[in-house]
Amino acid sequence: MENILINLRKDIQKFAETISQIIQMDVEIMDKNFIRVGGTGRLKNKVGQSMTEESHIYKKVLETGKEYVILNPKEDIHCSRCPSIQNCKEKLEVSTPIFFNNEVAGVIGLICFNNQQKLNFIDKQEKYLNFLKQISGFISSQAYLFLENSYAESKKEFLKVILNKIEEGILIYDNNHLLTHMNEVSIKLFNTKILQENLFIQPLNDNFLGKNAYSIIYNDKKLDVFGEIFTFSPFEKVLIFKEKKAIHNSILHVTNSTTGTLVKDFIFYSDSMKKLFERINKISKNPSTVLITGESGTGKEIIARTIHMNSNRVNQPFIAINCGAIPEALLESEFFGYVKGSFTGADPRGKIGKFELANGGTLFLDEIGDMPLYMQIKLLRVLQERKIIRIGSNQLIDVDVRIIAATNQNLEHLVEMGEFRKDLYYRLNVVPIEVPPLRKRTGDIFIFAEHFAEKYATLFKKNFANISSEVLSIFEKYNWPGNVRELENTIEYMINLMGDNGILSYNHLPQKLLTTNSAKIPQERTLKSMEIEMISNLLIKYGDSTESKKQIAKILGIGIATLYRKIEQYNLKH
Ligand SMILES: Nc1ncnc2c1ncn2[C@@H]1O[C@H](COP(=O)(O)OP(=O)(O)OP(=O)(O)O)[C@@H](O)[C@H]1O
Ligand SMILES: [Mg+2]
Repeated sequence: MENILINLRKDIQKFAETISQIIQMDVEIMDKNFIRVGGTGRLKNKVGQSMTEESHIYKKVLETGKEYVILNPKEDIHCSRCPSIQNCKEKLEVSTPIFFNNEVAGVIGLICFNNQQKLNFIDKQEKYLNFLKQISGFISSQAYLFLENSYAESKKEFLKVILNKIEEGILIYDNNHLLTHMNEVSIKLFNTKILQENLFIQPLNDNFLGKNAYSIIYNDKKLDVFGEIFTFSPFEKVLIFKEKKAIHNSILHVTNSTTGTLVKDFIFYSDSMKKLFERINKISKNPSTVLITGESGTGKEIIARTIHMNSNRVNQPFIAINCGAIPEALLESEFFGYVKGSFTGADPRGKIGKFELANGGTLFLDEIGDMPLYMQIKLLRVLQERKIIRIGSNQLIDVDVRIIAATNQNLEHLVEMGEFRKDLYYRLNVVPIEVPPLRKRTGDIFIFAEHFAEKYATLFKKNFANISSEVLSIFEKYNWPGNVRELENTIEYMINLMGDNGILSYNHLPQKLLTTNSAKIPQERTLKSMEIEMISNLLIKYGDSTESKKQIAKILGIGIATLYRKIEQYNLKH
């Protein structure tokens, strides 16, 4: 530390005066730049002045780190070369080093200007020298303290700068839930800078990407957030959060895709999907290219989004491009963008391509099997060189993009037919992920059905209770050519028809499921289905009082006991 004593001037002056009062001598303290930083008596008004001309002995102390006691200044060998020896009025001089960080940081000088003082010093010399050493030690510990404080201060400042640069809100509060610090984002959100008021944090039953939902109230303002609470000392906690609203907006931004949907929960139950999910987790973190194959509606896009969400690129864009949906002529400009006015009909301001938009993040190439051959060559080149050129420009632009491609076509087959380049196929197929069709993972059907039923019931403001076992067994046997998407649409349709009892039952099934089902399943099942359908329809029509049931039994030509048994058996109670 360069010249620390100058920073301690006030303390040093106090020390000098204390020493002077006790020892009854004049005291001066010099720093290593030969500046007098403290002084008493006739030296007091020379504080702050340079001592280069008068401090011959102090120079020696600085050099050697030793203490010097000079009993007769004018005669002492150490004074022989002092420039002010002729005018020296000193009768005795004691010089003690002040150490700091193993170096001499300054000198304490005691000076007698009369013989009385001198005799007094000689009398108690040993005691006084010890005392001086102690004071010198005090000064160095004071210097350490100063250094530590200024270090802590600068650390605080440094932290403050960081906290204010962070995009998340930060609230630090103590054990009594009094707010002790807020960063600029929080100041804006809560519209106050006032600290030490009560902070209310109520956990909500929701989470997103490992962050919990909380409702925060401060300064009469309530905010719903996703965040994390850390305990960073026994007395304080910190909540780092993002406003729920902002998170939703940013997801919309991230998913700026062909569909524009939010990232939905990725759900599964079957063993094959569990394995697939483990694989996703493993491969998410590295940037290797992924090729997802599977029938339409199996969840290829949601898997691509999940990979992105689990990767280190989560805060970067996820850009989806549907190679099959974009007119061929526009594909190239969609991919690479163009510079101003490069072709007729082009946006005069130019356009940024999806590769550049996805820079740092993930580019999802959906329906890659539909990509025309000439674009396949261009794509291959980008994958090899990681550089693009905007149309109309000759400047190479570096891009760091993770590619996830998907298709429901058999690419190997396309390669054989000469419709897909072999080299591109190998480039893409670094990490293959094959999503099984729904009919091969019937274990997922039940949780999907329940999940979508809850979803649409909430959307349509209806109460969903459960799905009848009859319906579930039909679901299990159906072959779901449209996979999860078809199941979702089926449930949406059924929730529309669902009655107040909240049960999805046989008579809500769409025709398609009934007919394919009856074609596929044995006659006995059809009879059962018909019975269920007839009984439920009659129950709806006539009600389920005892009287009505008697009537229904009569219509059906069965005994009342049989009707009760069937109602019980098929779970048709309202
Ligand atoms: N595991 C899953 N968890 C939750 N929802 C799913 C899951 N799999 C599929 N879905 C839902 O099913 C629908 C179809 O999924 P997605 O669009 O990802 O399928 P896809 O394989 O890309 O279909 P396509 O080949 O037709 O483009 C979406 O609404 C999606 O949210
Ligand atoms: Mg898709």
